Amino acid sequence: MEPALSLGFDQLSARFRRLTGIDLNQYKGRQLERRLQSLLRRHNLADYTALSLRLERDPAFLQEFKDFLTINVSEFFRNPEKFRELQERVLPELLKARPRLRIWSAGCSIGAEIYSVAMILDEVSPGRGHVLLATDIDRASLDKARLAVYQEQELKTLPPHLRDRWFRPVNGGWQVDRRLAERVEFKNHNMLEDPMPADMDLILCRNVVIYFTDEAKDRLYRRFFNSLRPGGYLFTGGTETIFQAREIGFRLISPCFYRREPAG
Ligand SMILES: C[S@@+](CC[C@H](N)C(=O)[O-])C[C@H]1O[C@@H](n2cnc3c(N)ncnc32)[C@H](O)[C@@H]1O
Repeated sequence: MEPALSLGFDQLSARFRRLTGIDLNQYKGRQLERRLQSLLRRHNLADYTALSLRLERDPAFLQEFKDFLTINVSEFFRNPEKFRELQERVLPELLKARPRLRIWSAGCSIGAEIYSVAMILDEVSPGRGHVLLATDIDRASLDKARLAVYQEQELKTLPPHLRDRWFRPVNGGWQVDRRLAERVEFKNHNMLEDPMPADMDLILCRNVVIYFTDEAKDRLYRRFFNSLRPGGYLFTGGTETIFQAREIGFRLISPCFYRREPAG
């Protein structure tokens, strides 16, 4: 970060961390700075000191700032060809090793990702008591995920036969069938700081790390590695490549799918 612009940043960062547990230093400098500058302009704030004072005094603004930082755009079956691969190759492989899978969507946003997995898992292995965990740092997204009501346009990437099977119309949208929604446990969790769940067969972490520094990413991928059982998979976003995959002990099986090698 440029010295002139970074004035007040340490104070802002310390205060934000105290208030939310989120460490701004783990987010990419330039990208973060561009976004902070646009936030300052939007709210007519002179500098980071003014921003950090506002965070302390105005809880609604603090929430808005968190939302702004952790953009939570998501959709059902994001990169459909990858979800096809998940359904046709990865899940069957995992099910051969264990009939009850432990699956974690890290950075789950509004829940579209984990509900997509729940729907295809039901096709591959119906009602077998799998564990589906979905976590996010953003409580507003988690509330929406738990409510499981989506607007018509949020379902545009959902195959029609799955909408017919798993959604019912409610006032102002479509609600996920209870029998599916109840299979998922949603939790507030900061993947950069909090203890990681263990013994996972599959971790989805998609379109989250783009905002993290290289060091934060490296540490995170090592933590995911440790959370997977040997033979388990990490499913990343379409543009996310783990450059140090081999060094960590992952094998790239196909774009977006990394397997923790059994010997690792
Ligand atoms: C762009 S969304 C991606 C949602 C979904 N994975 C997908 O690909 O459609 C990024 C999500 O990551 C969450 N996030 C950002 N930093 C996080 C952190 N440190 N721990 C947990 N979640 C985080 C945000 O709150 C947001 O909901």
